[in-house]
Amino acid sequence: MKQDHIRICNFSNAKGGVGKTGIGILTARFLAAAGYSVLFIDSDLYNNSATYHFASTPEEIQGRSLAEALRSNDAVSNIIHSSYTNVDYIAANMQLMKLRSINYPTFKKLLRVPGIEDTYDYVIIDSPPTFDNFVCAAVYASDYIIIPFQLSQSDIKASSFYFDLLDEEFDNILETHKFILTINRVQYRSNETAEDSWNNQYRSLARDTFREEAFTYCKNFIEVPERSSFKAAIDIEGKLISISEERLFSSFRSIAGLLGAVTDSVTQF
Ligand SMILES: Nc1ncnc2c1ncn2[C@@H]1O[C@H](COP(=O)(O)OP(=O)(O)O)[C@@H](O)[C@H]1O
Ligand SMILES: [Mg+2]
Repeated sequence: MKQDHIRICNFSNAKGGVGKTGIGILTARFLAAAGYSVLFIDSDLYNNSATYHFASTPEEIQGRSLAEALRSNDAVSNIIHSSYTNVDYIAANMQLMKLRSINYPTFKKLLRVPGIEDTYDYVIIDSPPTFDNFVCAAVYASDYIIIPFQLSQSDIKASSFYFDLLDEEFDNILETHKFILTINRVQYRSNETAEDSWNNQYRSLARDTFREEAFTYCKNFIEVPERSSFKAAIDIEGKLISISEERLFSSFRSIAGLLGAVTDSVTQF
């Protein structure tokens, strides 16, 4: 552990397919490459692709899961080492279905224990694409909320609606949490001028749609480019992203920096 206190980061959006899992996984890997110890918690019972990413073999899981951690109120015994240095994880499975009525403080209580608080610099929680007690429990436990979305009208509207739901549900969430709004899969076209670009129209729409308070912590959107190497890094075990992939690399350096990490030493993750 390098930091004086643990930082809990939730990647969430009620909308699916926006990049919560992929950006969460790569953020965890970037932080780990910078020397921080990271615990990744997969809480997506429908699409536990982060579990597939981190588990070398299905046998490695051996009954250890987030559902079991919640059932037994013991997260530490359900932690599994991944094949990435500095990344451990807790797996998701369909058993989580039975725990969907959990109280908001449950997740926080599970994580604020010896063996986690004094071991990890970062906890990354990947949430399912919905708005329910489970998502709210992850939000309640977290210090940072990263909301990825894509440059489409429906993503922008759904994501700002998700932000508003959180603001309604929790007292003073803008004081207790730091929001990082992340535009994902941006396609940069070299032959478009900055003034008339298609992307800019959507950036303006996003600026106008999110309430100003969404930018209290991070004043602007973080952008992650659309890249086949993003997909390859998630789907092909051991495929790393290097500093030569400038734009993609710098997106994750920015996210890690906003999460309070010192990242100068990282050249691949
Ligand atoms: N920036 C990107 N470049 C290329 N592919 C991406 C990018 N972001 C997400 N994807 C791909 O899009 C799909 C959905 O992303 P995912 O992270 O699973 O979304 P969510 O968790 O929000 O449902 C995955 O196949 C993922 O690899
Ligand atoms: Mg997901």
